[in-house]
Amino acid sequence: MFAVNGDKAKQFAPCVQMNGSNGWTSDCPAFIAIELNRSKFEETIAQKFTFADFAGNDIGLLTAYLVLAAEDMGLQTCILGIRNEDKIADFLGEPNGSRFPLVIAVGHAAEGYELRPKDRKPLEDVFKLIK
Ligand SMILES: Cc1cc2nc3c(=O)[nH]c(=O)nc-3n(C[C@H](O)[C@H](O)[C@H](O)COP(=O)(O)O)c2cc1C
Repeated sequence: MFAVNGDKAKQFAPCVQMNGSNGWTSDCPAFIAIELNRSKFEETIAQKFTFADFAGNDIGLLTAYLVLAAEDMGLQTCILGIRNEDKIADFLGEPNGSRFPLVIAVGHAAEGYELRPKDRKPLEDVFKLIK
């Protein structure tokens, strides 16, 4: 995991700007880039079990806690999936082919920013109670 702030955050922003998306990140004061790495546990059991592919799940868990912790500290975040992983690896000096499934933009919401209306699938499409 990498934290990027200050002038470096300004230079990092283009790594998460593609096809006109995420332009607002030019004003974002900090980013957290999460690199895909196997945990020690996964490395150990991967020798026995081919299904040991948990790192993506771990990143989801980590991201959820990070954004909640940031909010608790009075910061706001935006989880970013639009990103150029090659550019990020280059920026951070990581080897070619390194994976960065998620970046988290960290800062303060723009003055007067209103949460957009949520357009969710109906609960019955995504949840079934088996009894
Ligand atoms: C995996 C993932 C990738 C996302 N990528 C972006 C992104 O690149 N740019 C963006 O503005 N929002 C992106 N979002 C949406 C914001 O993070 C979103 O507003 C936030 O997750 C709150 O979720 P909600 O709007 O569904 O409540 C992404 C969300 C997720 C979960």
